[in-house]
Amino acid sequence: MNILNGKAYSQEIEKELSIEVARLKDFNITPCLYVILVGNDPASFSYVTMKNKACNRVGIESKIIRFEESVSQDELLNEIYKLNNDKKVNGILVQLPLPKHINSSAILESIDINKDVDGFHPYNMGRLFCNLDSLFPATPLGIMMLLNHYNIDVKGKDVVIVGASNIVGKPLSLLMLNAGASVSICHILTKDVKKYTKDADIVCVGVGKVKLLSDDMIKDGAIIIDIGINKLDDGSIVGDVDFKNVSIKASYITPVPGGVGPMTISALLSNTIKATKLQYKAIK
Ligand code: GUN
Repeated sequence: MNILNGKAYSQEIEKELSIEVARLKDFNITPCLYVILVGNDPASFSYVTMKNKACNRVGIESKIIRFEESVSQDELLNEIYKLNNDKKVNGILVQLPLPKHINSSAILESIDINKDVDGFHPYNMGRLFCNLDSLFPATPLGIMMLLNHYNIDVKGKDVVIVGASNIVGKPLSLLMLNAGASVSICHILTKDVKKYTKDADIVCVGVGKVKLLSDDMIKDGAIIIDIGINKLDDGSIVGDVDFKNVSIKASYITPVPGGVGPMTISALLSNTIKATKLQYKAIK
């Protein structure tokens, strides 16, 4: 079994991105990301803080704008309107989930498509659907970068993705499909998940359920991507895969923590730099 070490690779990526940011600073451009955080969910706060710190490490300016849980949709739309029109702001990220009284789609659709560093705007999702370059959602992009780093080519492979969210499962399926994989997506209504996973070359799981993927559900030598983040009662963080047993059968596996999580952050940093360049079309 080989570990797909997202933590180590993300540190290499950060070194490269720091150089890229320094080059932009030679043109008097400092990439700048604004993150909108609504409410007091500890997990969301922790993700946003990690994103903010990572920006600082590579020289990207980053600000967190916080709103009370009770914020109105119009207040959020007004803030995004201001950020869309602020030339200094290159990336806008609205941390999800939003409170139930907010229409998340309306919020995501209000973000300038060239500042949409999460790639959740239907325009950018549509470009992904059409296999055109765009700002791709960070977690799926981070997974593709990690596989590529370990020379794992998904072309012709049977890939099963468990979880069909707009944030991870659906965009990941498209990136995999565009890269030549045969993709199946399992979700809450799938009758028999094992039927799909047991023959798959690559299994990606991200639903937020501890030990969802057990060793009897995979074939020998499968590649396992664990996208889950679950906090146990003792405070430790685990993924959706029964790591102890699955790792014995797998050829490659991502650990949690230290696998997909750091790659998500690297992909976000990379998207922020890409978005900055989109706004200064002369700079490649
Ligand atoms: N909540 C969970 N994952 C994500 C993500 O990738 N982006 C945003 N904006 N919110 C999230």
